[in-house]
Amino acid sequence: MAFDFSRRSLLSFGAGATIAGLGGCATAAQTTEASAAEAVGAFPAHKASDGSELLGPESGVALLSRNENPYGPAKSAKKGIAYAAEKGAYYPGVAYEELAKLIAERHGVTPDMIAITTGSGEALCAIALMYGPKGPIVAPRLFWDTTALYAQNLGMATISRVALTPDMGVDLAAIEAAVTPQTGLVQLCNPNNPTGMLSDPAAIKAAVTRMSKKTTVLVDEAYMELADDPDANTCIGLVKDGHDVIVSRTFSKIYGMAGIRVGYTIAAPETSAKIRSTAMSWIAGTGLSGAISCYNDMAFVDYSKSKVKEARDMITTTLDALDMTYLPSSTNFVYFKSGKPANDIQKALAEKQIMIRGQYMDYVDWSRVSMGKIADVERFCKALPTVV
Ligand SMILES: Cc1ncc(COP(=O)(O)O)c(C=O)c1O
Repeated sequence: MAFDFSRRSLLSFGAGATIAGLGGCATAAQTTEASAAEAVGAFPAHKASDGSELLGPESGVALLSRNENPYGPAKSAKKGIAYAAEKGAYYPGVAYEELAKLIAERHGVTPDMIAITTGSGEALCAIALMYGPKGPIVAPRLFWDTTALYAQNLGMATISRVALTPDMGVDLAAIEAAVTPQTGLVQLCNPNNPTGMLSDPAAIKAAVTRMSKKTTVLVDEAYMELADDPDANTCIGLVKDGHDVIVSRTFSKIYGMAGIRVGYTIAAPETSAKIRSTAMSWIAGTGLSGAISCYNDMAFVDYSKSKVKEARDMITTTLDALDMTYLPSSTNFVYFKSGKPANDIQKALAEKQIMIRGQYMDYVDWSRVSMGKIADVERFCKALPTVV
């Protein structure tokens, strides 16, 4: 059908007809406005004021320090994000409920058991604020402690760290023994960060079940989808069975959306309501729409997982050749013992534009490297022998 440029059709589009060559969506008025804005520098061409990249690594930098998934976001997610950008003038509306429904459906729970936040970090901060004032947060000595520290720094929590097993696993028996009537929260991370290790599924479920009779247990499963058998390892079943357990997940890892910021928890409806009301941000429409669009994109999930495995194999082959100890990883990072100070290795690699993590606590000669793009991992594998 030919385009009708009659006055009537112009009016029915509100601001005017679309202009060819401008993506079919800019009107004459918008174009003038855009040119004026460009002239005063409102579009900084994706550069920070010092000329560096506004988002993501500089070109030439192998960013292997933050456990991101550089293959994301999925094409499906990008469509949702673009749609949300078009609708960016409006508060997100029903998108939250829609995403909660999708998540609930996958896990066989009700939508009121889902709390969605701006990254799972926000939910974990809220949980630390909710339970920290009751008593210590009991956790393994090494875990992703950023959110517990957030509450501790505010004077709202203390962390009671329990030594790892000799093989660097989470010592579930010792953690259980450390739980007292005063405990505010038990926080576990499975698979753990920075070790990358999964706990034995039967052991963790049994320990969490017992501990949850005494206190709330949070299981941070940010990397669970990267494990070989997430369904067999997750503690979500314990939430469904009515135990006082909270499980957190994120779109930052397997879905490659760390910059889009969406995470969620699964817990009893009352607990979830409390997390929602404690969380401070209103999730961006871009996050909600992007997450809705890719949540069931299993082709992308499988692709991400295969790239992580490929990279992990390259790294473990390199570490084997160097005769270095490393922990069995179920995640997109590997924790290895180089025998040299981790901070020195970090510095030497940074000089070659390869970024990895430095020292954690007093684990002086343990380093953590993330699975980035294959070419970047290859650079790490070639460079490591030259710096150790
Ligand atoms: C174990 C763990 N949990 C949670 C997070 C927070 O991730 P996000 O806030 O992006 O969901 C991270 C980030 O690296 C993490 O390693």
